[in-house]
Amino acid sequence: MTDTVMNSTGEIPEYDIARAAGCPFDPAPAMRARQEEGPLARVRLWDGSTPWLVTGHAEHRALLADPRVSVEPARGTPRLSPGEAAMAEAREGSEEATSAPSFIMLDDPEHARLRRMVTGALSVKRVEAMRPATQRIVDERLDAMLAGQKPTDLVEAFSLPVPSLVISELLGVPYEEHDFFQANSRTLINRNSTAQQRGEAFQRLGGYLDGLVGEKIASPGDDLLSGLVERIDAGELTRREAVEMGVLMLFAGHETTANMIALGTLALLENPDQLATLRDTDDPKAIAFAVDELLRYLTITHGGLRRVALEDIEIAGQVIRAGEAIVVVNETANRDPAVFPDPDRLDLQRDARQHVTFGYGVHQCLGQSLARMELQVAYPTLFRRIPTLALATEVERIPFKHDGFIYGVYELPVTW
Ligand code: HEM
Repeated sequence: MTDTVMNSTGEIPEYDIARAAGCPFDPAPAMRARQEEGPLARVRLWDGSTPWLVTGHAEHRALLADPRVSVEPARGTPRLSPGEAAMAEAREGSEEATSAPSFIMLDDPEHARLRRMVTGALSVKRVEAMRPATQRIVDERLDAMLAGQKPTDLVEAFSLPVPSLVISELLGVPYEEHDFFQANSRTLINRNSTAQQRGEAFQRLGGYLDGLVGEKIASPGDDLLSGLVERIDAGELTRREAVEMGVLMLFAGHETTANMIALGTLALLENPDQLATLRDTDDPKAIAFAVDELLRYLTITHGGLRRVALEDIEIAGQVIRAGEAIVVVNETANRDPAVFPDPDRLDLQRDARQHVTFGYGVHQCLGQSLARMELQVAYPTLFRRIPTLALATEVERIPFKHDGFIYGVYELPVTW
C-alpha cells in the first residue's frame, strides 16, 4: 500500500475542472484521466497542497457516508481556488450575522440539530403541495417570454426567475417584494458583479431576511421562516441562526436549479430524439426518470465536494491519513461504468437514481425534492408550450461556466 498516488510520469497532476470545448456535457478531460487510473488519486491544488481526489462511485458514497470525515473548514478541508480561500478567511474573521454558511459546513451533532428544523418544510409532501404554485410561476414566465421579443436569453427570461420565485414562495417572501429579492439575488450570482457589489447584495438580503423573520414573529404564516420562528419562540434556535438558514436556502437552491433548467434545455435541444420522448409523455414516472438522468448526465455540481479525514481511513487499497484533505468528485462518479452502463449516453429512460449530483450522506441535498419538482414542471411545460423552441446561436458561441463550481451557461439565446 502507498499513501501517494502519482501518474505514470511520477508527477502529481494539477487539479483541473475545465470541460473540453466541443464536449460541454462531459467531465473535464483531466478528471477523466484521473478516473482511468483508479478510484482514488492525488491531485495538486493551486496552493501546492495535494489532497486525495475520489473519482469512483462506490468510494464517493463510502467516504461521504463515513462519520470519520469532516466538512468543517477549520478542520482542514481543501480550498479549491484562491477566491474560496479568501472567502473562507473573511468569514473566519467576521462577526456579521450573515457571514456563516449555516449547517452545510458543520459536522454532526450541530449540523443535525439545525438541519432537523427545516427538513419538514422540504419534505416530499410539502414540496408536492408547492407544485401548483410552481406550475403557475412557470406558466407566467413563459407568458411573459412569449409576449416579448425574440430571440431572447432563456437564462434571464426563464431559468433564473423560476427558482428565485419558488424560493421566495417557500421562505414566505411577500409577492410585492419579489422584485427587491430577485434583483439582489441576481447580483449575487451574476459573474459581472464585483466582490463589493456581491458583498452588498449579500448584506442587503441578510438584512432583509432578518426583517422578514421579525415580521413572521409578529404575524406567522405557513412558510419555512414562520416554522423557524416557532423554534426561536421555543428557545431551540437563535434569530441569527434562523437568518443564516434563510440565506443558505436562498444560495443553495438558486443557482443550482437555474443552471439545471438552462443546461438541461440545451442538452435536450442537442438530443432531439430524447427531447421528443420527454415532450410526448404525461407519465409522471417517465418525467421523473428523465429529470434524474439529466441531473446525472450534466452533473452541474462539479469540481468536487470538500472534506477532511479525522482518522485514518482504509479505502480502495489506500490509507487516507487523519488530517488529509479529500476532494470527492460528483461528475466522474456519475459516469462510472460499473454503475451506469454506457455512461456517456443521455438516456432519459434509464433509472439514474443512483446519481450523486445531490451529494451523499448526512449532507445530501436537503432541497432535492424541491429541485426535482421544479425541473419536472419546467422542462415539459417549456417544450410543450413552445414546441418550436430552438437555439438562436451555435453551441460553440454559448458562454459556459468553466470558472465556477456550479456548471452551466451564462446565457442561452433561444428563438421559436
Ligand atoms: C438541481 C438543484 C440542486 C443541486 C444539484 C444541489 C446540490 C447539492 C449538493 C451536491 C449538496 C451537498 C453539499 C455537500 O455535501 O458538501 C447540497 C446541499 C444542500 N442543498 Fe442542494 N442542490 C440543489 C437544489 C437545492 C434547493 C432547491 C435547495 C433549497 C431550497 C437546496 C438546499 C440545500 C441545503 C440546505 C444543503 C445543505 C444540506 C446539509 O448540509 O445537510 N438545494 N445540494
